Amino acid sequence: MDGLQFAKEPAPFVITIFGATGDLTRKKLIPALFSLFLKGNASQFKVIGFARRPWTKESFQKEALSMLSGSHFSHIPEGQKKAFLEKLDYVSSTFDDAAGYARLAELVKPWEGKLFYLSTPPDEYEPIIRNLGGVGLNKVDSGWSRVIVEKPFGRDLATAKELNEILSSQFEEHQIYRIDHYLGKETVQNILVLRFGNGIFEPLWNSRYIDNIQITVAESIGVGTRGNYYEKSGTLRDMVQNHIFQLMTLLLMEPPNDLSPDTVRTEKVKVLKSLRPITYKDIKNYTVRGQYAAGVVDGKPVQGYLQEEGVAKDSKTETFVALQVHVDTWRWEGVPIFIRTGKGLGRKVSEVAVTFKQPPLQVFRNQATDGGQNQLVLHIQPEEGFTFHINAKIPGYTTQVRPVNMDFAYGDAFGESTPEAYERLILDALVGDSTLYTRRDEIEASWSFITRILQGWALDTDPLPQYRAGSAGPEEAKALPASIDQKWRKL
Ligand SMILES: NC(=O)c1ccc[n+]([C@@H]2O[C@H](COP(=O)([O-])OP(=O)(O)OC[C@H]3O[C@@H](n4cnc5c(N)ncnc54)[C@H](OP(=O)(O)O)[C@@H]3O)[C@@H](O)[C@H]2O)c1
Repeated sequence: MDGLQFAKEPAPFVITIFGATGDLTRKKLIPALFSLFLKGNASQFKVIGFARRPWTKESFQKEALSMLSGSHFSHIPEGQKKAFLEKLDYVSSTFDDAAGYARLAELVKPWEGKLFYLSTPPDEYEPIIRNLGGVGLNKVDSGWSRVIVEKPFGRDLATAKELNEILSSQFEEHQIYRIDHYLGKETVQNILVLRFGNGIFEPLWNSRYIDNIQITVAESIGVGTRGNYYEKSGTLRDMVQNHIFQLMTLLLMEPPNDLSPDTVRTEKVKVLKSLRPITYKDIKNYTVRGQYAAGVVDGKPVQGYLQEEGVAKDSKTETFVALQVHVDTWRWEGVPIFIRTGKGLGRKVSEVAVTFKQPPLQVFRNQATDGGQNQLVLHIQPEEGFTFHINAKIPGYTTQVRPVNMDFAYGDAFGESTPEAYERLILDALVGDSTLYTRRDEIEASWSFITRILQGWALDTDPLPQYRAGSAGPEEAKALPASIDQKWRKL
């Protein structure tokens, strides 16, 4: 399979959604499948919902219609929705009941392509995997069989390895698709095109010219009704191990020789394996965590994390993380990578800022302003595109320098709405392209680094720094960049 460059035309397939009555199916999976159907990327197919609730085929179809009620589909004729709904079927069963899988096998076996989507709580992966193997649905003798596994994929290195063992007891690695929806985002994929499809960036993309890189993924909302889930997770597990590390590896990897899934992922793994470990003794120098306290977000007063439903009053779960990481490679030696992510912050924004070094001789240094360092900012959310901050002369009789922006906005340049991440990723799994999915060694390498930090934090008895909801995070994070020239970008 040749990876990212191929047009997508899946063979006839059946997709089984384990957890079909759940939130992700409602919000993302059914809308994504409907979009693929509308765009003609899926014509001969069936969708089977599998969950505990005693729904029937008809009630699943009725529920699915309500899942398509968003404004996105309001202009779509009812006839097309009906044609899609006719492809839906439902199996009501618990995940550990072999009889349910026997019924499923009858529906699924005639199809050449079989995709199983595990959209369930992680504790449920094991019985599903084993039962699929039990009825032979993992076999590829006639056609193909693939499984998509949702996040979270483990909660530390040991549990991620355990889950990999369970999966590999029934499926070959090429059948396993570990999803990270960040990789389905256009702007994230554009990092590869920006770096390797242009001649001007790559010669500068190293420690000779780059001063530091900052990755920010900030959310203004708090944990809301998901306090229970968040207590078991925290920001490091929820955001850094997966989404942010995916961004980071795309930014730092060496140019791949081709775009095949394994070539791209091998380069990404090399980055993760080159991360300098942060052990207990470095915890205070390279990591800052915090919890949001009561504050004001978008003009509205909000409560602190400890007051949220489902959160322990003495919780030490972090809702904010800032890290300074180093990648010990020839290319990146001496370039700090600053990572900052959290909830209850002043703004919802995801971006990457690459700050370049000053010119060797700063000839404008004695002017009122020398404009500062060049910066390339990749906007991921809410705007999509990038901005180049360069310096220009202010018109007039004196030589005053000021930074100006060169902007590229995705919407302006291409004028079309970008496909939803889940749409792209499901389509890739249907055509057998795993480039944008996480390989086993990749997930284990990222957990290996993250687990050391978790172990260091577990030994740290200091109270967690608090930050006012609606602010830029704890004060302690400001001091993380040790050099006075390296500052966080304003949120
Ligand atoms: N929701 C999101 O926005 C989101 C985003 C990213 C990743 N994810 C991941 O996606 C997965 C699903 O999340 P979700 O929010 O959709 O979860 P959810 O709303 O809690 O849904 C869980 C689903 O699993 C079914 N289920 C649970 N235990 C079962 C059992 N023993 N037997 C049969 N069915 C069982 C439930 O069926 P019944 O309700 O019929 O009992 C329901 O369909 C999770 O791994 C989550 O981390 C979710």
